[in-house]
Amino acid sequence: MTGRKHKKAERAGRVLSVASEFAPLVKTGGLADVVGALPSALAAEGWQVRTLLPAYPGLLDRLVSPKVVWSSDDLFGVEARIVAGKLDKSDGAPGLLLLDAQQFFAREGSIYLGKDGRDWPDNPTRFAALSFIAAEIAHAGLSDRWRPDILHAHDWQAGLAPTYLKQRGTRGVATVMTIHNIAFQGLAPATLMGRLRLPQSRFNRDGFEFWGKISALKAGLMDADWITTVSPTYVDELATPAFGMGLDGVIRLRGDRFSGILNGVDLNVWNPRKDRSIAYRYGPRKLDDKRGNTDALAGEFKLEISEGPLFGVVSRLTRQKGLDLLLDTLPELVERGGRLVVLGSGDADLEEGFVEAASRNPDHVAVHIGYDEALSHRIFAGADCILVPSRFEPCGLTQMYALRYGALPLVARTGGLADTVIDANDAAIKAGVATGIQFSPTTAEALSAAIGRMFDLYGKPALWRRMQERAMKHPVGWSESAKAYAALYESLLDESELL
Ligand code: ADP
Ligand code: GLC
Repeated sequence: MTGRKHKKAERAGRVLSVASEFAPLVKTGGLADVVGALPSALAAEGWQVRTLLPAYPGLLDRLVSPKVVWSSDDLFGVEARIVAGKLDKSDGAPGLLLLDAQQFFAREGSIYLGKDGRDWPDNPTRFAALSFIAAEIAHAGLSDRWRPDILHAHDWQAGLAPTYLKQRGTRGVATVMTIHNIAFQGLAPATLMGRLRLPQSRFNRDGFEFWGKISALKAGLMDADWITTVSPTYVDELATPAFGMGLDGVIRLRGDRFSGILNGVDLNVWNPRKDRSIAYRYGPRKLDDKRGNTDALAGEFKLEISEGPLFGVVSRLTRQKGLDLLLDTLPELVERGGRLVVLGSGDADLEEGFVEAASRNPDHVAVHIGYDEALSHRIFAGADCILVPSRFEPCGLTQMYALRYGALPLVARTGGLADTVIDANDAAIKAGVATGIQFSPTTAEALSAAIGRMFDLYGKPALWRRMQERAMKHPVGWSESAKAYAALYESLLDESELL
């Protein structure tokens, strides 16, 4: 540690964080929230983070004091430059590096999908380009004389960065690869190897080859100095065939360089006391005011105004999230007097399932298909309970927002859900620590039983109130996790100094 402390006195450690999403600029899921929140959380620990992100349409206009810090007329055959700037004028504003390569990123529509709903065919090349540039910055630095100490790659879109850096020469820069979701692996045909400037010599078990294809995620897992994922429970799950999605062997191989650091939530954005998106602001000692949000939400969706619990879902509608199981149990939920508001979009069959359920039970079930940040806040504030019946969940953020907003989370016992919600079993209730309900296995029967338990708890107002207060006080901020990332960075730098 001593060497590092000495350096720290000279300047803050520098991190290049590389990702395809960054809240509030561009978001499809929790990856954006986490990548967007890390810079300020790490600044509090003395680390300066710059985030490298594709310049999707409109993003360059959002930069304050833009400045070109790198350019080339041949990034995988296209013209490209990096524009540095800040998100706003404040001193502490996050530093951004936008990779402006029009042929790759200046496209309308989703950042990953074309109008036909399928992945853009050149996704492997687009994100390999991002990773290639990340390695270039780490190796050679930018024209404003900035070069990182740590290159931190998030998910498959940045997975090739550690591999490219190894190829180019690390020059003392240590690499971290974070798995947010192993279901997305960035597979590409082997024929792309030349185009992506990847060496044939690493197209094997010890490199980026995965069943005859290039895997960007596997590349990162093999070549990063350290791997993290976003909850301790998911660390153990990933090493098993049931959760590893074919990469469990790689995870086991790298097991001594792998750890879990739980995500946090941005307490400035998710704070029911100050939330501008909700009608009635409240805190753990002003919980009666939450009721106004519940009635407002029911009114907005023309649900019956009743005393029954209002359940909420804010989610991508995919198999991962287990919401097909909720469709199966919905008749019981309605029969018992529960109401449900769903906000989400995704798989067509799930979208249709919820739309149909709402048209059958207009007084009790409502669905908004789409993406709506402000509405999501109104749901957390209005709901009595947030449902997260995921089949797997690396961390999950909505159960943490739910805790903050006193909407008791009902979650599957998996990944980060298991690590953040304390099940209201008899012992936990007696000990005064329960904050929600967990269920396992992830089946319709177990979900239905858990919803039954939630109704029982809701029928005991004093206990319910105590659980809400406790949930709202449960620490879900970034401070502990930022410390864990900082300690990891420090230890990696110490190692690289010893080499
Ligand atoms: P994942 O990243 O797997 O989708 P997380 O729970 O980590 O799951 O993060 C999801 C994030 O996206 C949360 O911030 C959640 O509030 C948000 N979100 C998901 N769907 C919607 C939607 N339809 N409208 C608004 N926010 C949404
Ligand atoms: C992924 C996971 C989710 C996690 C998020 C941020 O999208 O599905 O569980 O919270 O990444 O790490």
